Amino acid sequence: MSLVDDIDEVMISTEQLQSRVTELGRSLEREYAGIDLLLVGVLKGAVMFMVDLARAMDLKVDLEFMAISSYGNEAVSSGVVRLIKDLDQNIAGRHVLIVEDIVDTGLTLAYIREMLLAREPASLRICALLDKHEARKTDVPLDYVGFRIPSRFVVGYGLDFAGTYRNLPFIGVLKPEKYAVK
Ligand code: IMP
Ligand code: MG
Repeated sequence: MSLVDDIDEVMISTEQLQSRVTELGRSLEREYAGIDLLLVGVLKGAVMFMVDLARAMDLKVDLEFMAISSYGNEAVSSGVVRLIKDLDQNIAGRHVLIVEDIVDTGLTLAYIREMLLAREPASLRICALLDKHEARKTDVPLDYVGFRIPSRFVVGYGLDFAGTYRNLPFIGVLKPEKYAVK
């Protein structure tokens, strides 16, 4: 029994992830040349992406993490989120890049963006690995996107289903029976 046995289809391979993350790193290097950048990762989904992205950039970067939790049903984003872990440092006057795993309705990210903007960073941009643009309910500006994907539930490379599959080294679609209520 292997984790991969639960996957119906590989949507984005390890090689595709690596080459896209490298490209994003190059773009960010150009954008932030000579600037100290603060990467703000949203736990836990963004962890794999964030550490790979940071290593793809020849820049002075610091890493911060925040954790949030959605109220109510996890499967349907309400956009009403609760702050579980705040940043350790003040971001006023800093150049901040939010690093997110996936943007679905956009409600979660819109909330985080407003919260961080209120702290008056020098700049605030967003880098999302995956963009399910068809599902968007609010306009949130995505400055950098790894891949636009269809509205299907995916796991791997940080993304989970009920706390599992984050460590798969690719993005895949779960077999339907894995969603079955136990
Ligand atoms: P939004 O508020 O609808 O944009 O929800 C975004 C959050 O929902 C992401 O940060 C993920 O935690 C979660 N999410 C949305 N789609 C998926 C998916 O396909 N797989 C795993 N988590 C997802
Ligand atoms: Mg998330």
